[in-house]
Amino acid sequence: MNNGFPQKTTGGIKRRDFLRMAAGTAVATISGVITPLVIKVAHGKGKLEPFTFAYISDAHLYAGNPNHRFVKAIKKAVADVNSLNPQPDFVFFGGDLAQLGQPDELELGKGILSDVKAKIHMMVGEHDWYFDMGRKWREFFGKDVYSFDHKGVHFVVLNSVIVKDYWTAPNMTPMERMKAMAQLDNPKGEAFTVGEEQRKWLKNDLSKISKDTPLIIFSHSPLYKYYRPWNFWTDDAEQVQEILFPFEKVTVIHGHTHQTVTNKIKNITFHGLLSTAWPWPYPPQGIPKLTIQMDRADPFNQFDGCGDGRVDILSSGEVNKTYNFWDRNPMEVTFERVSKETGSETPGPSY
Ligand SMILES: [Fe+2]
Ligand SMILES: [Fe+2]
Repeated sequence: MNNGFPQKTTGGIKRRDFLRMAAGTAVATISGVITPLVIKVAHGKGKLEPFTFAYISDAHLYAGNPNHRFVKAIKKAVADVNSLNPQPDFVFFGGDLAQLGQPDELELGKGILSDVKAKIHMMVGEHDWYFDMGRKWREFFGKDVYSFDHKGVHFVVLNSVIVKDYWTAPNMTPMERMKAMAQLDNPKGEAFTVGEEQRKWLKNDLSKISKDTPLIIFSHSPLYKYYRPWNFWTDDAEQVQEILFPFEKVTVIHGHTHQTVTNKIKNITFHGLLSTAWPWPYPPQGIPKLTIQMDRADPFNQFDGCGDGRVDILSSGEVNKTYNFWDRNPMEVTFERVSKETGSETPGPSY
């Protein structure tokens, strides 16, 4: 029976759009009686304008050799994103611009990234940070923790590579500290964290955001517990996730793992970024179930297993992630696939 209310798609107006247009009070005819009807618009934002951003990550630049293969690699990524047509709304850099946090490494990276045509947002990795505790990085790129809004999506950039001080007591030099942090097997045993101060900041930042606003959180390390011996891990991940659980649509995008990796914990979807410098193999345990694993890279081809990529935000606020491999077919991880399948519902193993 037609109750006088616009049906789902009648006249090209969807019920949801109609509700938005009504935005408050409407009059509807039900059984021939004029009845004032107050319509509460629960989610005032409605549909988003879809948009795309591109990413480049984990360049690990050594300075001093302009022909170094890692320099060529990040330049290739810059050429890739500059050739996108249409251009992405912005480019995100996922951390580890430098290899050993040296000022000339960061300067080299800054110069190369200045050729990116779109606006660029930066995030730190541990390789950028532990020579001078981020001094040069902040001088070049500004805040390491910040948020911004873009076309109805709230973006947050975290510094997830905070570790407990293991350098003061043994009197380590800045370079000794840096080299310890640059090792994959993390011999000092200190796990990455976001830390209490930043968690407080995050809570406060999100307190102003409505729960139906799509969130995209950037962190260098995965914001879950993947594999501790390689520091594919954030030690206070559960506490950060707690802050994110009340939001309807949350996507976390991380660098650091240099591979295809997808996870889902409750309402949070996690996507890893490719590195321009080298691919990491998969650890012997802890790989999230949703991950479509990359084949082992050809060691004689520097670009194999490396690349850049793209994130498409759909009108629903859902996210499709594309890994743009340089020497293989691209891989798209759509929100349909992520929502159909179950990821790790538990925080993962502890070591
Ligand atoms: Fe890295
Ligand atoms: Fe890293």
